[in-house]
Amino acid sequence: MLHLGLSPLLVLMLGVSLGAAFPHDTLGKDCRLSQYQHIEREQRQAVDRMRQEFQFGDEQDVTTHKCNTKLFHRKWKAANLPMPDRVLLVEAELNLTTAMLELPAAPGFAEVCRVPLDFFTTAREAVRGCVSASPEPCRRGSESTACLRATTILHVLQVLDDLRCAALQDKC
Ligand SMILES: *[C@@H]1O[C@H](CO)[C@@H](O)[C@H](O)[C@H]1NC(C)=O
Repeated sequence: MLHLGLSPLLVLMLGVSLGAAFPHDTLGKDCRLSQYQHIEREQRQAVDRMRQEFQFGDEQDVTTHKCNTKLFHRKWKAANLPMPDRVLLVEAELNLTTAMLELPAAPGFAEVCRVPLDFFTTAREAVRGCVSASPEPCRRGSESTACLRATTILHVLQVLDDLRCAALQDKC
């Protein structure tokens, strides 16, 4: 089913199982993805504020500056993926994002993460009904959690874009 070369690293890190079964190439009936065709400005701003706080605040320590996982550096775009793979990608990204935002953080940063975490958690639930796959348990390779967390937060706008792209289907 998947003809497009998802990077092995991405696959490994996100725990995406290839060849996941989408019986009729349709989204599950519990799929509530379409509401994300438009992401409200306030939500996007809250997410971007978190990213900026992280990038320019003191949350990011020396080790995460040096960490350069290629997880979000891809040669392909979500728009080029067939729908089932796109949904799977978004689910994996939402899994990763919520897991990283749930990690303990300094009180000030935790407060900034609250609205984005709610948003991504709700989105993850909405997307779950779309995927009829049974991906393998998530393995995270050898990246440290701090590195994964930094990468995810710094690329969190891409997660929003991928979510919107999956919701837009043909219109992305
Ligand atoms: C996302 O997380 C859920 C719950 O842990 C898991 O069942 C699902 O397979 C994960 N999805 C992907 C694409 O990794």
